[in-house]
Amino acid sequence: MCGIVGYVGNEQAGPILLDGLSRLEYRGYDSAGVAVYSQRDQRLSVHKAKGRLQVLSDMLQGGAAVDGTIGVGHTRWATHGAPSDINSHPQVSRSGRIAVVHNGIIENYAELKAFLQDQGVPFTSETDTEVVAQLIEYFCETDKVGILEAVGRSLRRIQGAYALGIICADEPDQIIAVRKDSPLILGYGNGCNFLASDVTAIIRHTREVGYMDDGEVAVLTKDGIQCYNHLMQPVEKEISHVDWEVDAAEKGGYEHFMFKEIMEQPEAMRRAIFPRIRDGEVFLEDFALTEDYLRSVHKLYIVACGSSYHVGMIGKYNLERILRIPVEVSLASEFRYMDPIVDDKTLVIVISQSGETLDTMAALREAKRLGATILSIVNVVGSSIARESDQVLYTWAGPEIAVATTKAYSTQLAVLNLLGLYLARLLGTMPEEEYHSVLEEMLLLPAKMEEILSDKDDIQYYASQYFNHNSVFFIGRNVDYALGLEGSLKLKEISYIHSEAYASGELKHGTISLIEEGTLVVALGTYAKLFEKAMSNIVEVKARGGDVLALTTRTHGEEMRKTANGVITIPETHPLLLPSLGVVPLQLFAYYVALMRGCDIDKPRNLAKSVTVE
Ligand code: F6R
Repeated sequence: MCGIVGYVGNEQAGPILLDGLSRLEYRGYDSAGVAVYSQRDQRLSVHKAKGRLQVLSDMLQGGAAVDGTIGVGHTRWATHGAPSDINSHPQVSRSGRIAVVHNGIIENYAELKAFLQDQGVPFTSETDTEVVAQLIEYFCETDKVGILEAVGRSLRRIQGAYALGIICADEPDQIIAVRKDSPLILGYGNGCNFLASDVTAIIRHTREVGYMDDGEVAVLTKDGIQCYNHLMQPVEKEISHVDWEVDAAEKGGYEHFMFKEIMEQPEAMRRAIFPRIRDGEVFLEDFALTEDYLRSVHKLYIVACGSSYHVGMIGKYNLERILRIPVEVSLASEFRYMDPIVDDKTLVIVISQSGETLDTMAALREAKRLGATILSIVNVVGSSIARESDQVLYTWAGPEIAVATTKAYSTQLAVLNLLGLYLARLLGTMPEEEYHSVLEEMLLLPAKMEEILSDKDDIQYYASQYFNHNSVFFIGRNVDYALGLEGSLKLKEISYIHSEAYASGELKHGTISLIEEGTLVVALGTYAKLFEKAMSNIVEVKARGGDVLALTTRTHGEEMRKTANGVITIPETHPLLLPSLGVVPLQLFAYYVALMRGCDIDKPRNLAKSVTVE
């Protein structure tokens, strides 16, 4: 979704803003722009272009064509008004003296626009953002106040979710930043300061960051940053150090971020798992939920979106099995509209890579309102979901840039399993021997993943056989069904092949009518207990002419080969952990298919990395 970057210092802002925007490209966007104030010309210059950032960068000779040492930049993902040069940000006030970049949505923009139009303010774009720029100028002019006061007055009028970066030609040494329900990060430099919606945009310049809280306003000059709370009282910001390396957010010789991130999974799993197993027991860092509280919990409720929801689906099977308490899983976008049965005895587990997904955030707040305790499993440190939870378990996957999640999914699953094991130990619901054997197997997962990754030729071969198909079905039972949901999503989102996942038992209730000569069915049969059932479903599909690519464990590979057209195998592990290994070939299959179809793998059409609108 949209991205914001801002810079104030002694260097030319243009190249810094464009570089920052290039690091936000992965989030998805349709146009880009910058506004820079030139001390020499004493004016703001605004440059915007629909399409790839490269178009803007070429227009500005990589930034060299704009003069000035203070500016804001934006990558837009259209909400109000189609992608166009005019609708791109920055949006300016009618005098051209105030420029605004904005992530989020101003919900009452139509009402405010009508009010301003009644006052004679002309509008040039269809955006909700222009309303903000015009409203600030309106207060500056009619109330004869400075920019900060005018921003404060405007904030009392606007409703919605927003992160704003504002510069004004009348007070040209400062950027004003505002945050409400949309992330914004302050970067502390030496003789310069930064603003960004995502730390990747500024990590090359500073690792010292402050996470703005909801309702906060910040004034950035090159000499410092002053923050204010929603009452405009000064507040001290805690400064955090970002400890991942710059190259973690770069391709490092790989053709695609997605492939790099698939290959990084063993390392990410080591970071997520190893520090959390000590002396044969699960150890959860800074775990503040008391044993008494955890013993009182009578229901777990997992809420998440997309792939994170798929992790929750596996969690339902695994946690119910080892805890023997009900585990509900809900799409976050449905949760708040379904009148969920949640109370103070419900532990709500929120799963999110970005920690900023709006639907997930809204579900979290609804669950809190209903009295639940919130435990979140999050990748992005300091993100909104992490900060609003009662307890956070970070996945430590490092920055994930490709839109299609891979290493975040794997580490979420690992952390959820660890949490389940921790609770099982506490509640005494799992035989001790099994508990220890799962932990031992968890420690082996990274090495087993490495085995799969070093032997990917088969997967590449199958991708070459099937990349021309237009429709694919994933089938499986139990955790294999939940795994199929993820395999199917991975394939469809990056290759644009129509793909659906079904619980195998459901085939005969409708979907089997779609199976005809040559239809590709990816049959997942890793769960030994249900292997025979998986085989029967494969036979069913083959009898209708379907082409079956199967995934199973090495133990069952030979048996599977007798029936399926193609078989991919994974090493054996404890049944609770099978999806952690099974997902890797599915990610690779999707990747190779998309590669062979010539798709834009890291930035699939219409998708954004972090979905901050409803
Ligand atoms: C798919 C994918 C999305 C995300 C979903 C939730 O590959 O990445 O489905 O899983 O948008 O995002 P987070 O986990 O950031 O809340």
